[in-house]
Amino acid sequence: MKVLMLNGSANAGGSTRAGLDIMAKVFAEQGVETEIVCVGGKPLRDCIGCNRCSELGRCVFDDDAVNGFVGKAKESDGFVFGTPVYYAHPSGRILSFLDRAFFSSMWGDGASAFRHKPAASIVVARRAGTSASYDVMNKYFGISQMLCVGSTYWNEFHALTREDVPRDIEGTQTLRNLARNMTWLMKCIAAGRNDGILPPEAEANDMTNFVR
Ligand SMILES: Cc1cc2nc3c(=O)[nH]c(=O)nc-3n(C[C@H](O)[C@H](O)[C@H](O)COP(=O)(O)O)c2cc1C
Repeated sequence: MKVLMLNGSANAGGSTRAGLDIMAKVFAEQGVETEIVCVGGKPLRDCIGCNRCSELGRCVFDDDAVNGFVGKAKESDGFVFGTPVYYAHPSGRILSFLDRAFFSSMWGDGASAFRHKPAASIVVARRAGTSASYDVMNKYFGISQMLCVGSTYWNEFHALTREDVPRDIEGTQTLRNLARNMTWLMKCIAAGRNDGILPPEAEANDMTNFVR
């Protein structure tokens, strides 16, 4: 059982990473493997809406971690996406990364990378913008038939630097409880699968675009 995590900060060892590490420790205690991918600090392309992914089955831009991340996602049972808050929204680079990861995996068997799997976002800010950022992050899950996992508070914690992270007592509790809830859900899904309880087939997606 594996959880794939994404650090949406260019600061690979910062507060976001510290939050992911807290969750990774709980996952490890429960026998769940984790891998943390970082969006990194190099220039990262946004989705350009070229739709080439519908032919290729992957993003046309192959010079960063996005396509590799989707490949890892296919082998993963759950997801945690972590982002710092920038001007009351998630980091621009995690949005660029996830727009491309989710859009390019909509086609063929790509959707199986995320569909019907538990997911959670975690957000960190010095002070404000966490709820707005959390809302944005969670929208990837709803449209992808994913199971959004909650905790004892919205999944947010407060820190300017990673040294602050342990001082947010409730925030770190929220992260640990989130990891436990996700582990439980992944185990329920696995037990259900063993018992023949499989995810439902979705109806064909008739795209109506409101005007036609
Ligand atoms: C460009 C920029 C914008 C930021 N905007 C906010 C903000 O809107 N609200 C806030 O509380 N903190 C804001 N911060 C602080 C970061 O969210 C905070 O330092 C966080 O812990 C950084 O996480 P990291 O170490 O993983 O990069 C901002 C930081 C930067 C660099």
